[in-house]
Amino acid sequence: MDGPGLVRRVVGGVLAVTVCGALSGFSGGAGRVRPAQVTGRPAVPVVTKIVKGATAPADGRVSWGQRVLQGVGAPGVVGPAGVSPARKAVVTRQRDLCARARCVALTFDDGPMGSTGRLLEILAEHRVRATFFLVGQNVVKDPEMVRREYAAGHEIANHSYTHADLGRAPEAKAVEEVTRTQDAIQQASGMTPVLLRPPYGSTGKRLTALARRMGMAQVLWAVDPLDWEDRDTKAVERRVMASVRPGDVVLMHDIHATTVAAVPRIIDRLAAKGYTFVTVTELFGGKLTPGGKYVQREP
Ligand code: NI
Repeated sequence: MDGPGLVRRVVGGVLAVTVCGALSGFSGGAGRVRPAQVTGRPAVPVVTKIVKGATAPADGRVSWGQRVLQGVGAPGVVGPAGVSPARKAVVTRQRDLCARARCVALTFDDGPMGSTGRLLEILAEHRVRATFFLVGQNVVKDPEMVRREYAAGHEIANHSYTHADLGRAPEAKAVEEVTRTQDAIQQASGMTPVLLRPPYGSTGKRLTALARRMGMAQVLWAVDPLDWEDRDTKAVERRVMASVRPGDVVLMHDIHATTVAAVPRIIDRLAAKGYTFVTVTELFGGKLTPGGKYVQREP
């Protein structure tokens, strides 16, 4: 299952059931999925009622997710009103970085769990920043790890609360999955994600509309080394290296020690080829559109 063709074709939706790698909700034949237009389209419809299923925090405050769904601060560009000045500065400073550099965004799904701590050490040693797509129910089990991820400069993003198939879930369930995770991450780290990766890559019109209302971009991937499948460190390294191109989003899972063990070599080899490691938001120059779907930055 290695080689650029095969690995990339996984992106087109061949597998039936995977931890994170199957695509059931959007079309695309073999090869690379075309990303949504990277434009600053305005147009975020303001929703004036709370969607059923949105959850309120235990203390009775209205959650960020609910506020957005009520139309309070519904953004015209990706991001809630409350993005910290520090994060805005990072994005602004690096806005055009990937227009010139050979960028790659390493992304890690399903944590925090297992080998997340070890991965943070490796990324720190190599001075590499990545993007973590977190499962909400794991966030509440280990909020300290989420704080560490954020403090180290990594991008924190939403991967649903229970690793649910959001593309096929009823509307209320999808709303609950996304907003509970937003709130869990907010409580743990103080920041609110602007990126959503639907588990299994499963999305559709309804989830896209929801993401748009919530000011979130949908992030899929261009490279999938199938690290969850055979849990073979050398295979993960080989598949990533065979498939990666400048502008790619690479999908991996920090819940597997075998994957984390491949990261030092992947970083060294990509660095030797001149790659710059960026977060997903940086990869797209901070120009993500709410509801848009992104798999790679076009050259
Ligand atoms: Ni996943």
